[in-house]
Amino acid sequence: MVDRKIKLIGMIEDRTAKVGIIGLGYVGLPLAIHFGKSGFNVFGFDLDSVKIEKLLKGESYIKHVPIEPVTRMIRAGHFDATSNFDRLREVDCILICVPTPLTDKMEPDLTYLLETTETIATHLRAGQLVVLESTTYPGTTEEMMLPRLKDRGFEVGRDFFLAYSPEREDPGNKTFSASNTPKVVGGMTANCLEVAQTLYNCITRAVPVSSAKAAELVKILENTFRSVNIALVNELKVLAHKMGIDIFEVINAAATKPFGYTPFYPGPGLGGHCIPIDPFYLSWKAREYDFSTRFIHLAGEINVSMPYYVIEKTVEALNGESKSMKGSRILVLGIAYKKDVDDDRESPGYAIIKMLLEKGAQVSYNDPWIPQLRPTRKYDFRMQSTPLTPETLADADVVIIITDHSAYDFADIVKHARLVIDTRNATKGITGAGNKIVMA
Ligand SMILES: NC(=O)c1ccc[n+]([C@@H]2O[C@H](COP(=O)([O-])OP(=O)(O)OC[C@H]3O[C@@H](n4cnc5c(N)ncnc54)[C@H](O)[C@@H]3O)[C@@H](O)[C@H]2O)c1
Repeated sequence: MVDRKIKLIGMIEDRTAKVGIIGLGYVGLPLAIHFGKSGFNVFGFDLDSVKIEKLLKGESYIKHVPIEPVTRMIRAGHFDATSNFDRLREVDCILICVPTPLTDKMEPDLTYLLETTETIATHLRAGQLVVLESTTYPGTTEEMMLPRLKDRGFEVGRDFFLAYSPEREDPGNKTFSASNTPKVVGGMTANCLEVAQTLYNCITRAVPVSSAKAAELVKILENTFRSVNIALVNELKVLAHKMGIDIFEVINAAATKPFGYTPFYPGPGLGGHCIPIDPFYLSWKAREYDFSTRFIHLAGEINVSMPYYVIEKTVEALNGESKSMKGSRILVLGIAYKKDVDDDRESPGYAIIKMLLEKGAQVSYNDPWIPQLRPTRKYDFRMQSTPLTPETLADADVVIIITDHSAYDFADIVKHARLVIDTRNATKGITGAGNKIVMA
């Protein structure tokens, strides 16, 4: 009988294995490009037919991901994209990059992953590798995916291979991409690990761990580490403001210590599809073990309170001008959750706009990366980005800096604005503004 592991490893090594990527979003699209650049034929799968059409027409739907490599791959016949999941049978390696959000009750919402697993199970053929890349709690690959994939009578590690490899994509990061960020891999069996490790070694350095569960926890550890450290500096920021100390000066000075300290920076709250969400996957799972993840909850509490702090500082600043929040014109700068990306998921800017509106302010926003606000699960503002001109800046009673996009000229913003609330230290070094700038 043919040894499926040896056959698949051979196909990966000589690049005749086809790589299928399910979910062509912020993670899946760059990953598809990296596999293409590494010599693989890539097949993208997504439920969203608009994305598929755009890709095939050579249009990117993610601003910071250039489309040229995809266009080149399509022309060379090395890339195809489809919403037809019957074609999963054509690929040898299936990588899953679908969303893993939280429900309104802050519990894991595995709907997308469950649907994808069932689709794969329907089309699974012997000799395929399936790797979950979406962030999730330890045990998902083994407890949720494996039983469904085995349902067809296939044996894992012999007939097909199953692994978990967390995605470490950092959108907009110009230094680290999929090609120079090591990839942690955990397999369901030793054979699964070997096949998955061979695949990832083709695009970067694979770091094997002993199980899929361990690999799942690696990702959550990384993001919990960020969440807890951001909460720490957010809390210290509030104290430093009371003490009249510049927290950014303190952090930057502490960062000169060459060992034992990693700088994290405060802000208006956490955003993005990862850090505000992933730790809660673990705390949910921990309950099964009668275990309370106290750091995760405390960090969540502090980070969620930061938009309230921004509002408090804005009310105070307006008071200083003998103005009330009600009726004030407020211009919010930046709705993307971080600089130079077009991703507004979980952005603290939304919570801030909501509170401003509830308090009767007249709110507008500007974001060069996000021309309009579409309805989200939680919010429905439907605003258009206001052009940033000396007039719109001068017209606002307060300008709140939420995201420090590189495109912003902060000196010019401070020059024309009447009052600036700075949540990012974006106005650092701007002199002669008097009391116009309030750090929040
Ligand atoms: N965005 C990041 O910076 C980042 C970084 C590391 C890890 N992650 C993790 O990667 C995963 C994906 O995140 P993302 O930011 O790329 O999400 P995304 O929303 O940008 O992309 C997900 C894509 O999956 C598609 N999709 C949803 N259900 C599908 C299904 N059943 N079949 C096929 N396609 C489907 C969606 O249409 C979308 O295009 C999440 O688990 C996330 O936590 C994200």
